[in-house]
Amino acid sequence: MPEFAFAKPALPRAGALVLLIAEGEMPWQAADTAAGGGITRALKAAEFTGRKGQTCTILAPAMPGGTISRVVAIGLGKAGEVTRLGAEEAGGAAAALLAREQHATVAAQGLTPGLAASVATGMALRAWRFDRYRTMEKETDKPKLAKVTVLTEDLAAARAAHAPMAAVVDGVFLSRELVAEPPNVLFPAEMAERCRRLEPLGVKVEILGPKELRKLGFGALLGVAQGSAHEPRMVVMQWHGAGGRGKGGGGQKEGAPLAFIGKGVTFDTGGISIKPAAGMEDMKWDMAGAGAVVGLMAALAGRKAKVNAVGLVGLVENMPSGAAQRPGDVVKTASGQTVEVINTDAEGRLVLADVLWYCQQRFEPRFMIDLATLTGAMIIALGHECAGFFSNDDALSKQLHEAGEATGEKLWRMPLGEAYDKQIKSDIADMKNVGGRPGGAITAAQFVQRFVNKKTWAHLDIAGMAWSSKDAPCVPKGATAFGVRLLDRLVADHYEK
Ligand code: BES
Ligand code: MN
Ligand code: ZN
Repeated sequence: MPEFAFAKPALPRAGALVLLIAEGEMPWQAADTAAGGGITRALKAAEFTGRKGQTCTILAPAMPGGTISRVVAIGLGKAGEVTRLGAEEAGGAAAALLAREQHATVAAQGLTPGLAASVATGMALRAWRFDRYRTMEKETDKPKLAKVTVLTEDLAAARAAHAPMAAVVDGVFLSRELVAEPPNVLFPAEMAERCRRLEPLGVKVEILGPKELRKLGFGALLGVAQGSAHEPRMVVMQWHGAGGRGKGGGGQKEGAPLAFIGKGVTFDTGGISIKPAAGMEDMKWDMAGAGAVVGLMAALAGRKAKVNAVGLVGLVENMPSGAAQRPGDVVKTASGQTVEVINTDAEGRLVLADVLWYCQQRFEPRFMIDLATLTGAMIIALGHECAGFFSNDDALSKQLHEAGEATGEKLWRMPLGEAYDKQIKSDIADMKNVGGRPGGAITAAQFVQRFVNKKTWAHLDIAGMAWSSKDAPCVPKGATAFGVRLLDRLVADHYEK
């Protein structure tokens, strides 16, 4: 990961030079003059206009007095309309073109210090790479970018804006790493141990094992876990950034935390209702909801957010074995409600049921937001462009939708309703865990809602968003950490003192 620094505008002598250019604007005068007008001519020849998303690389420009290896021009779109997200994406686009460079200087002097910090943030987000298991890669194939200097007039303001963003980036990286780890390495106990990395940030981390979970009556979560050689865990993470006693009482009192709950199935074979072989390896990221919660807690604590927040993750592995749960089993959840398990592959909702119930009983939070790679049906409905969400609260829904637009982690609200709820009626228990193919993402949400007791709640089905098969400006293909930036923004915009 490159190191980032801010400096006063001065033309670099060597390395790469990134020029951020708004529509109709000229490239940085100092650079163009040094190149004898060559940059303007090159951009004109390339029909570069500064349109958003446009890029142009000029190799080895003739700039006497230096050895600039390349100039990378990035279009910012209309001047005066550059948003935080736009600046991040410009940075991300630049980072993608700089892998062969060791040092890059970014001319962001036309941007506010905050936007200059956003450019650095976007570059970091895009430059991330998970290479723990590559042992034979040639040095020449590895990305070389080691240092990025962003030029801006107000260094103090840029640094102040950048510090909290860097904490969020760290949270994103932690989340991506957890999601990218292979399932033989990252099983429930290992993921729980990695949550301890939040302790130095001031997060209180509690890890509960099977004994404690049995005591709490987590029959649904334990039923999913029982076929695996790996024991389940629940991790409770608490961040007290706003003071108060951290427990609500009617949910309204001072100090009541925000609660984030994640599905953490470290591998989902489907269990006895086993999945087909093709693509099953993807199910290592069935813990991405939990990964997002861990990353979010790291982000909030890392930037010392003035908020009380709790993160709870239910960690299990869903395996078939002689000890595995059977279709037809009836389990008792922590809430006391019973569930007929028709399909052992609908396991995520069983995990969420117990963790959500426990969370609301213990913390009486202001709201609960759960994240889960819950249904294939969600992907059929919305593809890989946005996550679907469900909520019993219009105000929270609006805030979530806006945070999605602002961060590029887009959300689309889906309906809930009694008619859908009827689909999960059981002949033997209080409910069954599947509602048939029609509206599969919705009936899953209805199931989850049965474990929410009048609390403000939202459920994010991130099945289509946890992993990406193509690069995006700020998200290299692979683990996306979807939800971390989104919920960090939700908190920053509406819930900090
Ligand atoms: N983890 C899957 C959902 C999933 C599928 C996420 C594909 C990402 C990509 C979940 O546990 C699951 O298996 N859901 C079933 C539910 C069905 C049995 C009612 C599904 O969506 O097929
Ligand atoms: Mn499943
Ligand atoms: Zn699953």
